[in-house]
Amino acid sequence: MSTATEMQITPPPAGQIGATITGIDTNELPTDAPELQPIRDAIYQHRLVVIRNQNFNEQQYVDFARKLGRPQVYFQSNYHHPQHPEIFVSSNIPEGDQKIGVARTGHYWHTDCSFESHPLSWTSIYPQVFPKDSRGTLYIDMAKVYANLPEHLRSYVDGVTAIHAGQLRYKVQASDIDRSLEELLNRINEEVPPVRHPAVIEHPVTGEKALYLNRGFTVALEGLTHEENKRRLAELFEFIERPEHIHQHAWSEGDLIIWDNRLLIHMSTAVAPGQHSKSYRIGIYDDLPFYAGIAAEEGQS
Ligand SMILES: [Fe+2]
Repeated sequence: MSTATEMQITPPPAGQIGATITGIDTNELPTDAPELQPIRDAIYQHRLVVIRNQNFNEQQYVDFARKLGRPQVYFQSNYHHPQHPEIFVSSNIPEGDQKIGVARTGHYWHTDCSFESHPLSWTSIYPQVFPKDSRGTLYIDMAKVYANLPEHLRSYVDGVTAIHAGQLRYKVQASDIDRSLEELLNRINEEVPPVRHPAVIEHPVTGEKALYLNRGFTVALEGLTHEENKRRLAELFEFIERPEHIHQHAWSEGDLIIWDNRLLIHMSTAVAPGQHSKSYRIGIYDDLPFYAGIAAEEGQS
């Protein structure tokens, strides 16, 4: 049985992101365990935590997400685990004649659900099958990027509203056969219409300012022409995605990773052809406002 004195939170080396948590079996934690608040605090402070040596079944994973916050049920059911809709399955492995989950998810810079009016607070990932050659997820600390933003790029974003849309990242499903692209695009637009967020957000807990833009879902800065938007966004993304900003988490068996979508953008690494990959994700709402100035998300999941 883990106790508060056994759990160790090791902060990242200076200038890095991600604390490592050891000495805890999350299956043993009661709902109101004293370890939960330090884990939440570490997510805010270090952007990302890796809880080592976990061994969950699906129900235990959902139970832990419930102890930490409020699990999301993703709006598209083709991503759901068949018995546990809270679990979002990224997989390229056929299971019998059933297709479980969706392959090649998130291989572009993004932050989960920025195309929703109240984006997802935290994302947790618990890999199931590791591809032989690539075991990584890439992250960029957007508070650090904002702090380092050159003056002319800062003038593009301070006080500016950005528009986010998920339409072009939609994964076509079997049920879409015989529908035209126009029908599909219109339907997605109705289901998740474009939303507006400040280009710079203030974290509701730490008060840090972070650039809230991502190549995957940010489609425009409000008030600009099409050409000016293309030019400014290209400059911003080029700066954001510089190699010196990128942190790679190399996965180990038993890792449960949780990060704050307010401060990090992320991207999955590519899986080499012919290799198998499967991971479970549960989105978790902390039920705080996503950024200072908007209301907290309530009861939707
Ligand atoms: Fe993602």
